[in-house]
Amino acid sequence: MRIRIEPVSRAFLIAALVHFLIGTTLGALMASQVTWWDALSPYHAELNPFGWLTFLIYGMTYAVLQLFASLRVPWKGLPWLHFVAAEAGVVLIIFGDLLRRPLWVHWGWFFQTSAGILFLIAIISAVATSRKARKSQPTISATEHLYVNSEMEWPASFAGFHVELKNDEIRDTDRVAKRGTSLALVVLIVATLLASAEGIVKGGDPWLSSDRIRVLLYDGWIAGTVLSVSLHLFPRYRPTIAISPKIAQLAQSIWFIGILLAGVLPPGWWLHRLGERAIGLSFAVLAAMYLIRMSSAMRQAQQAVKLAWGIAWTFAFVLGISQTFGLDPLSLPAIHLLFLGWITTLVYGVGYVFFPHLLRRAPAFARLATPQVILSTVGAAMLILGMIGVGSGRNSLFNDVLAIGGVSATLGFFLFAMQWGMKRIAHED
Ligand code: HEM
Repeated sequence: MRIRIEPVSRAFLIAALVHFLIGTTLGALMASQVTWWDALSPYHAELNPFGWLTFLIYGMTYAVLQLFASLRVPWKGLPWLHFVAAEAGVVLIIFGDLLRRPLWVHWGWFFQTSAGILFLIAIISAVATSRKARKSQPTISATEHLYVNSEMEWPASFAGFHVELKNDEIRDTDRVAKRGTSLALVVLIVATLLASAEGIVKGGDPWLSSDRIRVLLYDGWIAGTVLSVSLHLFPRYRPTIAISPKIAQLAQSIWFIGILLAGVLPPGWWLHRLGERAIGLSFAVLAAMYLIRMSSAMRQAQQAVKLAWGIAWTFAFVLGISQTFGLDPLSLPAIHLLFLGWITTLVYGVGYVFFPHLLRRAPAFARLATPQVILSTVGAAMLILGMIGVGSGRNSLFNDVLAIGGVSATLGFFLFAMQWGMKRIAHED
């Protein structure tokens, strides 16, 4: 199977890794020195959710669109314009904050919002072009259409993962996943527009000033996309052990109702709090479903990949249950259960399978993949525990747990980044 992976996917992925290298270093500094929190937090809170996870979502989406949905953006310049807008957003917000230039920060928000809108246009135009092509050339399938000018080998299945499926085995879960991706994207656009409007009307820092916008962005855009992408990926390990589309659909509806309630109603309202709990419930249901199916579905996957998926969904389950019973989704432990414990660990699991193809290089230290996942997990768990302890006022012991956890999670990520940034060692298999 030959397929051309857009170079812009690679650009997004490389930029995401660079942003996160800086973002985690700041995180480790804050974890080691609580007095630095106020000074470093704004940069960390921009670089990680937006520079790291949002870039990763953009880059993976361009690749996944081609791979699973056989779609390509018709105007090649558009994804690059999107990349430039997204990068300009991050750079202007960071340097505007650093050099105390509020105007740069405002332009940063403008670009960050525009990036979301450009992304939406890119996706819609790719879908429209593929429909048109299918209508005008009924004898050529959309997939064949895509392989014209192909330049890269992509095996039909690799590392226990099946790109090509013969029957429509997982059509129903794919449909739920597609709807989830669209809903998450709409949430991003609404949230960025609301945030920009709020910034213009009130001034200040719109991204982080409103709890509702943060819930929309964190639990809506980022978590919603991750839930949907996982629903595309997981059944492709073993379609016969696929998960129930009905449960996936139910969890998605609960998640979306929760996002509407928590993202629109004021934080003081009981319905807003109910919405946060509903979001937690949807995480817990989906996580439980993946965990129950994990061992049989991922039997043929690499050890590090299996481990990362299992750990990621365990963190998601803990977050889901805690949030269902009242944990504030914007508390430090909840944010790091979501972003670090769950999503970043899942990125490791997905990265070891996809990055060799997307970045066109094998991991430099393949044998260190499992220790890397373990080091990152221990670090994330300690960091979260330390945050709970520091938050509850029991400082001295928990400060150490926080510092060791923060440094370990950061080193774990550095090791992951080195896997792709360095040349493969000759004797590694
Ligand atoms: C090695 C990894 C990480 C470490 C050591 C770390 C550490 C920290 C620390 C110590 C804080 C407290 C600062 C404060 O509240 O003022 C913090 C805040 C924050 N972190 Fe992380 N973090 C890590 C990863 C992440 C990731 C992956 C994300 C998102 C993708 C993230 C998002 C945030 C956000 C949004 C805040 C601000 C919370 C607020 O101000 O309410 N962090 N982090």
